[in-house]
Order: sequence, then C-alpha cells, then structure tokens
Amino acid sequence: MPLINWKASPGDRIPAGNQNRPRYLVDGQVRSWDGPSFEVKSPVFEEGPGGGVPRSLGRCGLLDGPTGLSALEAAVRAYDKGRGAWPTSTVATRVAALRNFLGRMKGRRLEIARLICWEVGKPWADSLAEVDRTVIYGEQTAAALEELDQQGRDYLVSDGFRARVRRSPIGVGLCMGPYNYPLNETFATLLPALVMGNPVVVKLPRLGMLCTMPLLEDFAASFPPGVVNIISGEGATVVTPIVASGRVDLLAFIGSAKTAGQLKHAHPKPNRLRSVLGLGAKNAAIVLPDADLDLAVKEGVAGALTFNGQRCTALKIFFVHQSIADRFVAKLAEAVAALRRGLPFEDGVQITPLPDVAMVEKMGRYVENARSKGARVANPGGGESERTFFSPAVVYPVAPSMALWREEQFGPVVPVAAYESLDEVIDYLAGSDLGQQASVFGRDPKTLGGLIDALVNQVCRVNLNAQCRRGPDTFPFGGRKDSAEGTLSVTDALRVFSLRTLAAGVDRPETRDLMERLAEGGFSRFLSR
Ligand code: G3H
Repeated sequence: MPLINWKASPGDRIPAGNQNRPRYLVDGQVRSWDGPSFEVKSPVFEEGPGGGVPRSLGRCGLLDGPTGLSALEAAVRAYDKGRGAWPTSTVATRVAALRNFLGRMKGRRLEIARLICWEVGKPWADSLAEVDRTVIYGEQTAAALEELDQQGRDYLVSDGFRARVRRSPIGVGLCMGPYNYPLNETFATLLPALVMGNPVVVKLPRLGMLCTMPLLEDFAASFPPGVVNIISGEGATVVTPIVASGRVDLLAFIGSAKTAGQLKHAHPKPNRLRSVLGLGAKNAAIVLPDADLDLAVKEGVAGALTFNGQRCTALKIFFVHQSIADRFVAKLAEAVAALRRGLPFEDGVQITPLPDVAMVEKMGRYVENARSKGARVANPGGGESERTFFSPAVVYPVAPSMALWREEQFGPVVPVAAYESLDEVIDYLAGSDLGQQASVFGRDPKTLGGLIDALVNQVCRVNLNAQCRRGPDTFPFGGRKDSAEGTLSVTDALRVFSLRTLAAGVDRPETRDLMERLAEGGFSRFLSR
C-alpha cells in the first residue's frame, strides 16, 4: 500500500510547458543561457513504463563567473557612484515603478503558484498564499515608504544648524532567498532594497528558482536597466566572485549561518558590507503543567508541520512538563496521524513530498539516531518513507545525546522532551547558538510572566499559547546569535536597506535662502519637498 496516492490528478494546477531554456536578467535584458544547466525535478512523480519518475519541470542555468560579474557590473553602473537615475530618483518615481511591477505580478498569480507548488512541493493553498502575501507586502512597502518620506519634508533645526534629513540608498545589493519561501523571502528583501534606491543582483535559490522566471520581463519593463539583475547557478561560481570583488555594499541573505559566514568572509572590506541575514532557528515550544493541552497540540502540530516543518519559524523541539508529557505525546501523535497526506496540488493536503530524496534520507537519519539512543516514534507509521515522501514522526523522549536535541531538522520530525524544572529549559535556550522565537503554553499569570520576561532576553519573539510565526509582516522579525542579523518587517526593512543622510548648514538667512532655491528650483531632489 503506497504511503500517498502518487496518481492523483493535478487538474489545471500544473505548470504550463517545460522551461527548458534557462534565462536570466542582466542590465534590463532577458537573456537565454546556452551553457551548463541542470534538470529541475519535481518531488511529484509521474508514472512511466519503468515505474515512477520525478516530473521534469525545466532547466536551471548554471551561469559562469564572468556572467555573474556582468550582473554586478550592471548594478554598479546603475548606481553610478551615487549619481544614477535610480538612486537619485524621487520616492514617487520609485514607488510608481514598484506598483507597476506588482500590478503585472498579480496577473501571474496562478502561473507562479503552480511553479512553487510543483518545484518545492508546497501545498496549493500555501503556494497561492505565498504569491498573495508577497504582493501585499510590496503594496504595504510602497505605502510605508510614502509615509516615511513625509517625515523628511520638514527641516530639522537644532543648535544653530538647519538640515534636511532623509533616507538614502546604501549602494549595490546582493539578495539571496531560500527554497522554502522561494518567492516571498527573496522578495521580502529585494522589494524594500529596490524601492530605497539600491540596484540589486539576485541569485536565485538552487531549489525553487523557477517561480521567478515568469517575472523577468516584468522586472525589465518596470525598472531602469541594471537596477534589477537576476541570475542562477552555483554559489561558489557566481556569488563568491561578486562578493570577493568588494563592490557589494549590501548583503541580504536568508539561508544557513554557514553560507552567510562564508559570504561575509569573502568580502575584502567587511566594514563596507551591510548584512541583513535570516538564518537558522530551533524554536522551542514550552508546555506548562496547566496548559490547555488541546490548544497546545493544535498550535503545536501547525507550528511543527506546516509545509512539512520546512519553515525557519517552525517549532523544532517541545519541552513538556513531565506531569503531562505522556498525555501530551499521545494527543500529539493522534493529531499528527490525522493530518491529510498527498500531492501538493490536491485540495486540503497538509503533508506533502519533500523537495528531494536527500531530505527524506536526512529525516530518516534523525529518527534512527534518536531510536538508537532510547527514543521511540509515538505515531503509527511515523518515519516511514517512499520516494520523496516522509511520514511525519513524533519522537519521544529526546535527550541531549541525540542529534535532534540541538540540530535544526528543518523537516517533518517532531522531537519532544520532558522537563522537571523550567531552569532546564532556560539552560537549554541559553546554551543554544540560535535564538529566534519560542512558544509558551500555560495559564498561570505568575509562571507565564516570569517565563516571558526571561525568554524575551533569549529570543526575539515569545508566542503566548500560539505557534511561532513571522507574520503579520508589519511585526518585527529578527533573531539573536546565529539566527539573524538585522530586523525585518514592512517598515524595518525600509530602514535596514537605507541610511539616514543629511544636507546641513549653519542656520542663517543666506543658508535658508539657498536651501529654498535649491529645493524650489528643482536643483536638488534630496532637498526638494
Ligand atoms: O522560513 C522562514 C520563514 O521566515 C517563516 O515564515 O512564519 O511566515 O511561515 P512564516
């Protein structure tokens, strides 16, 4: 009996055609790539004569170093030492370009969602939500920038000086997003970086790169040449030379701490580089003895297993008070067993195939490692696998000797540990190299209050009787230690991708007169209202 129905029909939720000719965008031109490439295979299998084979979705271009550098050159030219049309343009011009792009993107909603769904195996509803959330984020970004710009319209007068203070671009940016949110998390840094006036090179993730392809012409039509450049390939071949050139001012990277560290070290002038990083996490759920167990299980399952646990914000370990641990695990196991499994384009599926077989094998190793050290899989069939499908496994009790104790599994394995005293949990968090979020489940205000006050000094968001999450996108999203550098949100992103700069003079009549003439005569866009 197969673990899922591999023969389910996709209906019209299927990408149109095969994207066999890799393309990229440099200097306002969409170009074809005839060099090396690799086949993009879906986690969804097609039935063929010899059994099932992963469906081929197209090819990803493995661009070479000089082509990657040509993207950088285009961005450097667009910045033109700060004199380029884009970095000197008004906020109104940049916001109009962004809105034009978003309008085009909306028209491609289904096309993009189909590619996300088939390339990374994201459930259909979540694939659509990823496109919609990205468009809304872009619209909120445009509105927030208009509001921010209003604040720079008045002169600042202090201690005999008069200044116009505004936010200016940082320079040339490099943006890289992850496979699990290939569109949203790439664009969550790209859009604010662009609208603040920074020309950008985007290196697409190796997995999840196809969903950006339908937008290349829209970028070219919406932004001046060189302002957006989109490339693909191996990081060591295309990205390292770009960073090592020393001409990148801004690195926006969402992925592993190891790669982020390598990129930062490759830059010859580290103080020139502004880094905005979203990295790993091992978010803990802490279940107190008086918790509403049904609520904790409901939120816990969604927190641990939405998109098969492939979210940086996923709950990746549960600490449950020993007095309720067995009951909690039984309820959790039952809830996990009830999750609907299937292919990502099917309505209502919750657990889908993983993007590749290597991830299935990795999950299997975590379960085996824990089993060999005394844990058990609490839900029936948990840990079974077939092709790219891995049946989620609740693993209990996990202990410090097991890989699941500290490592970020980033997949459908749910480790549960029992604790006696909250000191053990605080010690765990304090000893972690990661510090993004935590969830606490309980009722007693005294215990919860003390816990919240301790946790906010170890992580960046404490979720009360709720799973961890990034949204709403207007809330600050950050992390401590190896989890992040910088804070993102609609408004925070505008700040991290810009610098406060000013034009100032001694506050006397001649200065006031000159500043007025510069502004009213249209000589300086920075000084203009
Ligand atoms: O993968 C990390 C994402 O930032 C998680 O975002 O909480 O909205 O799913 P999310």
